[in-house]
Amino acid sequence: MAIERTFSIIKPDAVAKNVIGAITSKFEGAGLRILASKMVRLTDAQAKAFYGVHKDKPFYGDLVKFMTEGPVIVQVLEGESAITKNREVMGATNPEKAAAGTIRKEFATNIERNAVHGSDAPETAREEIAFFFSAAEMASLAR
Ligand code: RTP
Ligand code: MG
Repeated sequence: MAIERTFSIIKPDAVAKNVIGAITSKFEGAGLRILASKMVRLTDAQAKAFYGVHKDKPFYGDLVKFMTEGPVIVQVLEGESAITKNREVMGATNPEKAAAGTIRKEFATNIERNAVHGSDAPETAREEIAFFFSAAEMASLAR
């Protein structure tokens, strides 16, 4: 067990539903601390690059369109085993399969419009944090 950092996006569907606070409370309730947080609107190029790992999947075009349809909240979360803990509190990709009490069970609409993104491994967490937060920005937020 170790203190980790992970990267989270509260997706456009959840921002539109006015559940930024409710989702953030789930993170805090799971013992995750918000180290950085801002609202941004992804460009087409940013969404394509961020989800580049899925570029050959049939849902890629729809996913990029969805992720750019409105503002999102990008966050850095920190805590004990933060990457796994965040994935647990998010729940399964498909909300129909998500466990009771998880973010996706409570706030997702369907397998695409599923409220949150969370990094899936230490390497992707580092890359995704750097994609949205500069080193200077993270340093200035240190406490
Ligand atoms: P994420 O990357 O957003 O945290 O989600 P995940 O790991 O649980 O799921 P992943 O397989 O990486 O898929 C990325 C996002 O693409 C959308 N998706 N749509 N229509 C579909 O069948 C489908 N499958 C995935 C979702 O928004 C999913 O979170
Ligand atoms: Mg993923």
